[in-house]
Amino acid sequence: MRSNLRRSGILGTGSSLPEKVMTNYDLEKIVDTSHDWIVSRTGIHSRRIADENIATSDLSTEAAKQALERANIKAEQLDLIIVATVTPDMLFPSTACLVQSNLGAKNAAAFDLEAACSGFLYSVAIADQFIRTGVYNYVLVIGAETLSKIMNWKDRNTCILFGDGAGAVVLGPTEEERGIMSTYLGADGNGGKFLSMPGGGSRNPASIQSIEQDLHYIHMEGNEVFKFAVRIMAEAAEKALDLCGLGVDDINYLVPHQANTRIITSAAKRLKLHMDKVYVNLDVYGNMSAASVPVALDEALMNGKIKKGDNVVLVAFGGGLTWGSCVIKW
Ligand code: UT7
Repeated sequence: MRSNLRRSGILGTGSSLPEKVMTNYDLEKIVDTSHDWIVSRTGIHSRRIADENIATSDLSTEAAKQALERANIKAEQLDLIIVATVTPDMLFPSTACLVQSNLGAKNAAAFDLEAACSGFLYSVAIADQFIRTGVYNYVLVIGAETLSKIMNWKDRNTCILFGDGAGAVVLGPTEEERGIMSTYLGADGNGGKFLSMPGGGSRNPASIQSIEQDLHYIHMEGNEVFKFAVRIMAEAAEKALDLCGLGVDDINYLVPHQANTRIITSAAKRLKLHMDKVYVNLDVYGNMSAASVPVALDEALMNGKIKKGDNVVLVAFGGGLTWGSCVIKW
């Protein structure tokens, strides 16, 4: 059970998506695939692709500015910036430090967090700890990716799935009985090999050989990730509910990681949750890894799907393998 500390909540959200749309028909021209296959196996129709000169910090900064404005918080009031990403601008300095500079958030500490598609939920859990214990008041959490930059456009197993984008939230203390009710995180490093980018780190530093072996691209065993995802999405959602004394019947809205419609519908079925209560936008954006949950949350709020007083569950799974979930009373 949670100790009786003050509560944190989301004060504002924002998102940023590149303008360029890549459809399945565009992909048909570059790999051996078809619109019908992609739609029937994944639910994806299109995805956004960042221009060559746009990096993760650019999308992050735009999303952050929107979230700050909606939260009515100035950049100087931020105590901490966390950027969840597997596609940082560079290995260091962190993308969070680049964003801190872009925003002029001179009083904020800043770091990147890498938990693949679960990164946003890992970051929210950290922000929640800092705020609840009173160490910090305002934390900016961003999930942002430019996955197109690490995509092997010759690999039809991966390149049809992913897209670029950023979502941001500003968290702060809440006075009412609302906000983050529970967070739950998990990992299984034994499954790390199923989803990875092997090149560019200390194991396989960049070299002519690493490039020739395609090590700087996403590698994935889709079937393995699929099986894991279907199980863990439902389990993680149930665990977060359990931690705050709620059950599936109390869910007003579920915002899941947007990887595959079949994964989302199977998870909803396991939870016995009607799809009317589940937000899906992967048809237009594909899988944006750490950005997918915050962008979906931002859209669900802007579309009026989430209302004050709702119990909202966020849940994600990803490389690592990792997973995370949280319950928020809106
Ligand atoms: O954020 C986490 C990231 N990752 C995921 O969430 C991935 C989870 N996994 C999945 O979503 C699915 O496993 C995929 C969408 C990646 C693949 O769907 P699948 O139903 O598991 O297909 P499969 O890999 O079993 O392939 C079925 C067939 C194969 O052909 P054969 O061997 O039956 O002749 C593949 O070669 O489909 C073929 N195939 C394709 N055909 C057209 C695989 N990719 C494609 C493609 N276009 N893009």
